[in-house]
Amino acid sequence: MNKQSEILEEVFNNFLGESRIFKNREALRHDYIPDYLPHREEEIRMLGQILGPSLRGTLCSNILIYGKTGTGKTAVTKFVLKRLAEKADEINSPLRVSFVNCRLVGTEYRVLSALCSSIDVRVPFTGLALGEVFDRFKSALDSQKIVLVVALDEIDALIKDRGDILLYELTRINENLSQSKVSILGISNDLRFKDMLDPRVLSTLSEEEIIFKPYNAEELQDILEQRAKIAFKEDVSADVAIKLCSAIAAAEHGDARRALDLLRVAAELAEREGERTITEDHVYRAQKRIEHDRVVETLKSLPMHSKIVLLSIFLLSKSKAKGFMTGDIYNVYCELCKEMGVNPLTQRRVSGLINELDVIGLVNSRVVSLGRYGRSKKTTLGVPYSVIKEALFEDERMRNMVTYIPRYLNSIR
Ligand SMILES: Nc1ncnc2c1ncn2[C@@H]1O[C@H](COP(=O)(O)OP(=O)(O)OP(=O)(O)O)[C@@H](O)[C@H]1O
Ligand SMILES: [Mg+2]
Repeated sequence: MNKQSEILEEVFNNFLGESRIFKNREALRHDYIPDYLPHREEEIRMLGQILGPSLRGTLCSNILIYGKTGTGKTAVTKFVLKRLAEKADEINSPLRVSFVNCRLVGTEYRVLSALCSSIDVRVPFTGLALGEVFDRFKSALDSQKIVLVVALDEIDALIKDRGDILLYELTRINENLSQSKVSILGISNDLRFKDMLDPRVLSTLSEEEIIFKPYNAEELQDILEQRAKIAFKEDVSADVAIKLCSAIAAAEHGDARRALDLLRVAAELAEREGERTITEDHVYRAQKRIEHDRVVETLKSLPMHSKIVLLSIFLLSKSKAKGFMTGDIYNVYCELCKEMGVNPLTQRRVSGLINELDVIGLVNSRVVSLGRYGRSKKTTLGVPYSVIKEALFEDERMRNMVTYIPRYLNSIR
């Protein structure tokens, strides 16, 4: 192909949507599970060893897997369960696996009906009592004479607001089965989750425990390099970007999902600009973009009063002060409520809302000592001013207030 044909080829391909960067875009998605998971050999081996007996039709120990977000818990579990099911098929073992994400599925009822459908029992969407469905599940299970390995991913979602009736029943199910057996594998990234469990459930569930440690920068780099090979075309240069994405994600909390997100968004920026090299600048812009999207998403889900509290802290941030007392925030909040025609909440409730904003990272609160005047809480924005501003702008009711100048601000300047 001569130079001019090459130019045309490229122009046409652009129209046809052929990417200069990606050969397999899917490979950078969260739910993509590669054939090889670098730096998780030990965890894969342990999980395989614990689940192994089920291949012979023997009951295996229940397992609790936990570790911070993005440490590969879901990927490793799915990987091992897939191989386990394949092996069971190969040797005709009466083993079944069922994988349920409790947060995505939602209610206890839905989790249970997902378990039912994994052993081909159909239950109506609603209308039956939980106990009734559980009885059907049990009797169908027993008549099938199988070993069922149940993986409950994000298991904390199952118990957080609903208690642990289903878990309690599941951990005791083997006492009522004569022909079949059930092993449970629970996964959670909430380290406080164990404290929320009934001690009897906990002791049965955690016969074995596997803890997933955060990845360090080198490990993340290996993970990204492997995914980049699948995702990017051969002539794409991404080494510098991969190093930076790994370093950023390692400095936060060793989260592979975060590293992959950064790389994906950086690659998309490069693609849009028609580049074949993903640069550090693309990564930094990706970081900003992701932060912006996260704040916008979080803000969307906030109740109105929390938004007004955030807006108050935002408006106060225009002053020179470093950190604001709850009383100051409350005064601005009341002024805004009046301006917007909303009934204000009490200062106590507003103080609670500030704490909630702190937990989700939109603001930072810390208690400071005022010497002999005691102690007080000071709050600042937890995200760059410009990011909050853009996010507030995307909210219809807040938009008009972003440029408002609180009268109270004058009195404390
Ligand atoms: N060792 C690894 N090799 C390759 N990819 C990995 C590895 N660990 C994690 N990943 C990838 O990182 C992303 C996040 O991993 P995963 O979903 O397993 O995290 P998790 O521990 O389940 O997190 P959460 O607690 O938030 O559910 C996925 O896209 C996964 O494919
Ligand atoms: Mg997960």
